[in-house]
Amino acid sequence: MKNKTWWHDKVAYQIYPRSFMDSNGDGIGDINGIISKLDYLKELGVEIVWLSPVYRSPMDDGGYDISDYYDIDPIFGKKEDMDKLLEEANKRGIKILMDLVINHCSDEHEWFQKALEDPNCEEADYFWFRESENGPPNNWRSMFGGSAWENVGGNRYYMHLFSKKQPDLNWENPVLRQKLYDMINYWLDKGLGGFRIDAITHIKKDPTLRSYPPDADGMAGCFAPTRNFPGIGEYLTDLRKNTFDKYECVTVAEAAGVPFGDLGAYINAEDGYFDTMFDFSYSEPYAYGNGWHDCFRPGEWDFAAWRDTLYMSQTETEKIGFGAVFIENHDYPRSMDKFIPDAYRSERAQRMLGNMYFFMRGIPFIYQGQELGMTNTRMEKIEDFDDISTKNHYRVALRDGLSPEKALEGVMRYSRDNARVPFPWTTGENGGFTTGKPWLKCHPDYKEFAAEKLMKDENSMYHWYKNMIRLRSEYKDILVEGSFAPMDFGNEKSVCYSRTSEKGKIVSINSFTPELTEYACGEGKVLNGDGIHSYENGVLTLEPFGCALILL
Ligand code: GLC
Ligand code: CA
Repeated sequence: MKNKTWWHDKVAYQIYPRSFMDSNGDGIGDINGIISKLDYLKELGVEIVWLSPVYRSPMDDGGYDISDYYDIDPIFGKKEDMDKLLEEANKRGIKILMDLVINHCSDEHEWFQKALEDPNCEEADYFWFRESENGPPNNWRSMFGGSAWENVGGNRYYMHLFSKKQPDLNWENPVLRQKLYDMINYWLDKGLGGFRIDAITHIKKDPTLRSYPPDADGMAGCFAPTRNFPGIGEYLTDLRKNTFDKYECVTVAEAAGVPFGDLGAYINAEDGYFDTMFDFSYSEPYAYGNGWHDCFRPGEWDFAAWRDTLYMSQTETEKIGFGAVFIENHDYPRSMDKFIPDAYRSERAQRMLGNMYFFMRGIPFIYQGQELGMTNTRMEKIEDFDDISTKNHYRVALRDGLSPEKALEGVMRYSRDNARVPFPWTTGENGGFTTGKPWLKCHPDYKEFAAEKLMKDENSMYHWYKNMIRLRSEYKDILVEGSFAPMDFGNEKSVCYSRTSEKGKIVSINSFTPELTEYACGEGKVLNGDGIHSYENGVLTLEPFGCALILL
């Protein structure tokens, strides 16, 4: 069942369940907490919700390490709570997407436990076990730091591209594939809206398992041998045919590293592997190459190159299908800390970032707290962090000779926990997130971001987002399917584009400079804007980091 477009005109919202709302005072967000906040989402205008994983998990990687795909983790509730969530969401016209983590599972999954016990059992081939005499079988580096291979005694190793508690699944095994398909269909049969699909471009590994040319640390990043590796298409087609094709669901792939030339295979409307995908080519402004590995030596932001990629992503995707656009998620620092130089931090700049991405072509995703203008969190010490990736990278940084202060500074800026702190609902204790002790520290400025407070203030960030959602719906004839074209007004540091359909033309103009900037965009009606210095005779002048959305 392809050509499903019911989701194109909707706005999606990502929930990180551990930090959204706690219903029973144990300090951890849960499904009943989410149910109690569905009205908040409805009021905001959200119609699709993506839940980061709630399956049974030892929580080594925040639930991205699943030990039972058919169960809900007790910290989140019971299976019946999940059924109730689907029902309550349905009543409000909200579709729920679950996270589908099938590149790896948990080392506590029964398959892996059996495989550990008996190297010759059927389950052993569901993973990447190899014998190797002098250390790991090859030099691949895990994305969370250190070798991608873990020793289990003797010469026996298994591969983990993420933490060592996340053994990679061997997609070459057809029995395993069928088990995964059955599980996917089990959830889809419950009436899910669909899935966000985790790390899916990694399921095919270079079958030779050879070492790759090393970096300075003697290891090789695992992108070349395991990301979008030739042959992956066969698995993805098989996956689609056996599962998603039979349902009205929407599939959103976390598809990092897909070259623009391959977009067609991924999301073309006829037989793409998925309905839509997140393109990460422009998500990281600082060139720190091998992802986290280089986060302690961040490069400069080449604005022009970043913008070209952003424009290219839009124009290439439009030729083929419908993308998913975002500036924040649970894996990145907050957008203000990512895209705005420290000296120019302001609420205006945050609004501009919203106006910049929200009206591009594709389904916009909002990450929880983004609509409140939340920024990175300051942690005091490494013990304040929970994120496995943060801890591993801190350890590697110390090992490589960085001082504890430098190492802390690095992880502070890039840690995934920045965006994982509890959601501030009120200005009360713990932001009303829990009556207990929150599992992760609250943002020190949570009172400033409290939803309750911002909802009462017409000029708040909350209303900025709510209004953007309303505008996208009100002008859907132009803003949903209308075509995208970059616009150049001669400003070096601006992102400007038009959306055009036979119903009209809307332009989004966004300044990334600390100076006044002029845009000769022509006469029109301002639909949205902040920091508009003047707009006369068709010339818009923006204050530093200002923005506007104009109907021409
Ligand atoms: C994805 C998730 C991330 C997780 C990783 C491993 O990138 O978004 O949070 O750590 O996959 O599952
Ligand atoms: Ca709880």
